[in-house]
Amino acid sequence: MSALLFEPITIKHVTLPNRIVMSPMCMYSCADEDGRATGWHVTHYQSRAMGQTGLIMLEASAVTEQGRISANDLGIWDDSHIEGLKMISDAIHSAGSKSAIQIAHAGRKAMIDGPIIAPSPLAFDESMKQPEEMTLQQINETVAAFKEGARRAKEAGFDVIEIHAAHGYLINEFLSPLTNRRSDSYGGSQQKRYRFLQDIIGAVRTVWDGPLFVRISAHDYHPDGSTIEDYAVLAQWMKEDGVDLIDCSSGAVVPAKIPVFPGYQVSFAEKIKTEAQILTGAVGLITSGLQAEEILRNGRADLVFIGRELLRNPYWPRQAAIELRTELDPPKQYERGW
Ligand code: FNR
Repeated sequence: MSALLFEPITIKHVTLPNRIVMSPMCMYSCADEDGRATGWHVTHYQSRAMGQTGLIMLEASAVTEQGRISANDLGIWDDSHIEGLKMISDAIHSAGSKSAIQIAHAGRKAMIDGPIIAPSPLAFDESMKQPEEMTLQQINETVAAFKEGARRAKEAGFDVIEIHAAHGYLINEFLSPLTNRRSDSYGGSQQKRYRFLQDIIGAVRTVWDGPLFVRISAHDYHPDGSTIEDYAVLAQWMKEDGVDLIDCSSGAVVPAKIPVFPGYQVSFAEKIKTEAQILTGAVGLITSGLQAEEILRNGRADLVFIGRELLRNPYWPRQAAIELRTELDPPKQYERGW
């Protein structure tokens, strides 16, 4: 039996050559604090495509200047970013993989000069800045910034867009009752806390008809926070609103201890897949081909996101193929020497 990990999968009109995704990882490597991609980014991402990861997802890319985690983040807030991003996407394609980009706003976790914004004026901890509470106008402007980011991602040639709604960044801050204390139509009940993300999904969908993923933090690890039960409901709403896949991460909304072990977030992907009947991605300490195959074969997730292991080994898919006794075709340029 051939390995499911290396079977193609089609989402909307995009066929991924296998089920391995490079998990989005900030590289803090823009040289001039202008959000522009460099040759380093091209090599970094293309290396993993050469290693035959099927979908290469670029790191959190800021939809506004104020929404950067650091001054060296990749940006997608200006049309001048399109050219550099297109170079990366083209390089990924030329190595036979599909390209994705995570569009993001850091909210109260932005570590940049100047004021920062969040649903409520609560700092993450003593070391972080106090954010300003967003006005309705700022909410509308930020929704529009996500839409513009998606438009630029399309122009840059990406195959997949992922909205970053995890890890305590802006969208997650709206979703969690721990960080959203608003009393207007964007806070209070779960439905109202979802409204900001719902508006963003709707706005992105006006310019993007390709595969749309959302990364969530499926558990706040806090007695008063959101849990996987809440996210099973949210995933159903997201599906109705046009999301294709939920990428299931967890935590980082408030300082909290996360129990980490191999596959520690896989059960979240499994529950959402089963309860919301939507495609899911599993991520977090997935390091071997056998582990990845188990997740897919047991129907616990549809894609496997690999983070740090792909930093350590850009050829991880080849290693996984050996473990799974699967013959991988080499990149076509290598065929004669194979
Ligand atoms: C990350 N992670 C992350 N997640 C995300 O959604 N957007 C991002 O930009 C980043 N940035 C980032 C940078 C670095 C250096 C690391 C190590 C991690 C989280 C990452 O995508 C992944 O979810 C976790 O690393 C867990 O998966 P692994 O590494 O155990 O496979």
